[in-house]
Amino acid sequence: MAANDLQKRVTELRSTLREHNYNYYVLNEPIVSDKEYDKLLNELRGIEAEHPDLVTPDSPTQRAGAEPSDKFEKVQHPAPILSLANAFNGDDLRAWRDRIARIDERVLEADFVVEPKLDGLTVVLHYQDGVFVQGATRGNGEVGEDVTINLRTLGVLPLRIPVNPDGPQPPANLYVRGEVFIRLDDFDELNRRQAEMGEKTYQTPRNTAAGALRQLDSTITASRPLTMYVYNIVSSDDDVPATQWETLEYMRQLGFPVPSDVIEKCDNIDCVVAACEAWIERREGLDYEVDGAVVKLNNLELSSDLGVVGRDPRGSIAFKFPAQEVTTDLLEIGVNVGRTGVLTPFAVLEPVEIGGVIVKQATLHNFDYIEEKDIRVGDRVLIKRAGDVIPYVIGPVEAARKGKKLKKYQPPKVCPVCGEPVQHIEGEVAWYCVNASCPEQLVRNLEHFVSRSTLDIVGMGIKIVEQFVQEGFIEDVADIYYLDREKIFELEGYGDKRVDNLLESIENSKSRSLGQLINALGIRLVGEVAANDLARRYRDLDEISKVSAVELEAIEGFGPNIAQSVVEWFQQANNKKVLKKLKKAGMWPQSEPMPVVTGDLPFSGLVFVVTGTLPTFSRKDAKEFIESNGGKVTSSVSKKTSYVVVGESAGSKLTKAEELGVPTLDEAALKELPESVDA
Ligand code: IVH
Repeated sequence: MAANDLQKRVTELRSTLREHNYNYYVLNEPIVSDKEYDKLLNELRGIEAEHPDLVTPDSPTQRAGAEPSDKFEKVQHPAPILSLANAFNGDDLRAWRDRIARIDERVLEADFVVEPKLDGLTVVLHYQDGVFVQGATRGNGEVGEDVTINLRTLGVLPLRIPVNPDGPQPPANLYVRGEVFIRLDDFDELNRRQAEMGEKTYQTPRNTAAGALRQLDSTITASRPLTMYVYNIVSSDDDVPATQWETLEYMRQLGFPVPSDVIEKCDNIDCVVAACEAWIERREGLDYEVDGAVVKLNNLELSSDLGVVGRDPRGSIAFKFPAQEVTTDLLEIGVNVGRTGVLTPFAVLEPVEIGGVIVKQATLHNFDYIEEKDIRVGDRVLIKRAGDVIPYVIGPVEAARKGKKLKKYQPPKVCPVCGEPVQHIEGEVAWYCVNASCPEQLVRNLEHFVSRSTLDIVGMGIKIVEQFVQEGFIEDVADIYYLDREKIFELEGYGDKRVDNLLESIENSKSRSLGQLINALGIRLVGEVAANDLARRYRDLDEISKVSAVELEAIEGFGPNIAQSVVEWFQQANNKKVLKKLKKAGMWPQSEPMPVVTGDLPFSGLVFVVTGTLPTFSRKDAKEFIESNGGKVTSSVSKKTSYVVVGESAGSKLTKAEELGVPTLDEAALKELPESVDA
């Protein structure tokens, strides 16, 4: 394609992708399938890879994958990032209005805007000529931390303000303020996946969002479901709207996400009080956490004229919800056994009401948490319930312990279900029941094996699973394929039709893909993505059972822990038996593996880090070259790194390599390496 046409196509692709992005993330109304979107994105990636000069920082391809940094740079905010004074009830709100009316009588005629107070992290986004150039945390209000590369990973954040000929044009410099957070559904899903993989679960959406935003490795941020709403303009080169109401609309028109559906305008303070009180109920129905409402004078000039007390502008106030925290007695610490044998403690509580809901149980996260907070049975404990998140124990009320003799909590030494000894791996949070025939584990495993997200055996719910285990029909997952029709028929409630349907849906599951079966097996740390990665590379379970940990580690996204877990799973005698039975039953899906990464490739088992600018290879070229030779590319230098490939202006990674004695290569040496290591 001629240079002109190429540029035209790139511009076209970017603008289409931006539009799809906006529809998907901001409006929540995608108009194309993920597949169609990926196709366009891949086309753009392809062109940019071949023509690196066409890459721009606002290209939709530039959302993730930036180099991890060692620390965050400091960013001076263009104006102080203020906070808010609090009101806790209607009287406080009225007193606030009276106070500011005494300072400026325009307040008597003023109208207000009532917005949700989002429980997340403040960010300040800088756009230059409509392009997102920098994003910072609030920091101390004057100086924040540069988290630009992390913010780029948020699909909802416009990398370029789309220029709509009929809408407002972006100013030369624009700074907007917003809040980054995680939606409750996404948070639950994240924790479900963590638990499924035997990994530790996150405690609150807000802490998780904070942790993700301050990651030095942006690929980690990209894997967390962060989102954002904006609510203020901090500074702009152009005239900005005169009211808060119009400001929100203006930002929305520029393509920023604004929670317009729940923002209200009020003509007087009675309306403000009613709107704030209505928020106490409304918060329950939202899929994100709010810890109050923010009341703002709509007239921004008046607001600014009123000035600031300390760090709080007089023209706005936060209405804080009544606490969703209560204290109650901790009656007992129970322990659940998960699919992978992970033991999870939970609190059994004296029932207590929080925000209209009776709470009898609360999560204690893990045994380390109990130890850290020194939570003891018999304690008065503080419980928090936020939005739809499962209530959790914040900690003991120390003062209430006086005079009570409470024993320090000890994690169980044996599994509460099967009574076999439990194991704790040094350095890991989880405690495990390692008894492969623990009935509870078996039930959880079966539940996972038949679930919608794995083999989707319709009609085989948890009740049936439990019953079949209890009856002794099932001792491992493969037994599902050896069920005796007559025996089931003898059970109460099983007619001809029901048994036929069940056996038919079990039979149908034999046509599932290899990836689905691997996922169903419930190998620790192997979720849907890793399962599909394996299925893409190997033909069947026999092939995977012969792969070494080193070879597995060469798969993108497979660290040493996953690799080890896979190898161990296939080594276990019980699992070998299960595989044999599955094969014999005809539950043995085959895949069409890609012809890549085999043990014979010259870079198999080698780990590379690429740093600096290489003379002819782009980063992507270098990565492809290394991977096509069976090597793995990671982003940080450690003792495990085999080679650091060094280009011009290499920085801290080169220093680190020298410190650790990791050999370095230039591009030419990298290209020759396959011959030399092969020899
Ligand atoms: S306005 C001068 N609006 O609440 C403007 N803040 O202490 C001050 N917040 O740190 C902020 N939602 O991070 C404003 N709709 C909203 C907000 C909001 C959440 C946070 C903000 C600030 C804290 C107030």
